[in-house]
Amino acid sequence: MSANITWHSASISKEERRSRAGHHSFVIWFTGLSGSGKSTLANAVAGRLFEDNLQSYVLDGDNIRFGLNKDLGFSETDRKENIRRIGEVAKLFVDSGSVVLTAFISPYKEDRESVRQLLEADEFVEVYVKCSLNECEKRDPKGLYQKARKGEIREFTGINAPYEEPENPEITIDSEYLTINQCVDQIIDYLKGNGFI
Ligand code: PPS
Repeated sequence: MSANITWHSASISKEERRSRAGHHSFVIWFTGLSGSGKSTLANAVAGRLFEDNLQSYVLDGDNIRFGLNKDLGFSETDRKENIRRIGEVAKLFVDSGSVVLTAFISPYKEDRESVRQLLEADEFVEVYVKCSLNECEKRDPKGLYQKARKGEIREFTGINAPYEEPENPEITIDSEYLTINQCVDQIIDYLKGNGFI
């Protein structure tokens, strides 16, 4: 951190913003292999929240790498920096009174835990989008697994880069066996059942 910097407190508090929005603000953190369905589910859940007049926003792995994180690749160091920055951005969204849905592979447990620690206990919901490597590879929506198998992509998650499964996520979604609607219902039920929405 630089020297000679001072934290300025905001004139409008998070609680006041929440009160104006009429709902709690928090992060729904989707993690899982490429092709497991993170972005699809994050967008579908955001759609449901939108219908219910909640302020929400999706931060998506591919998209963020077009702008904010376009200087980062897929080495372990870069992935850690990717998740660190997203954690900080997500915290700003929570402060602004929004529900933020993030769809990043976020393969390292330690990095996901660091984001959890940045937030209050009732501001982080980890959703493990569970789908076997075999099924993700069959889906291969972007043809990336095929490229990785041919050696055209180095450090591809699940093939030649690690994915550390969450041990205690708030929600585990079996996206291999459930329909998108069933997955979304499971998430919405959890959020309602636990007072998030
Ligand atoms: S990470 O690990 O959290 O930093 O990755 P993320 O920012 O979510 O970016 C994942 C998307 O980038 C594409 N892609 C790769 N994924 C994994 N490994 C390698 N080497 C790689 N190269 C490109 C891929 O489209 C991922 O999107 P999803 O939506 O996960 O399939």
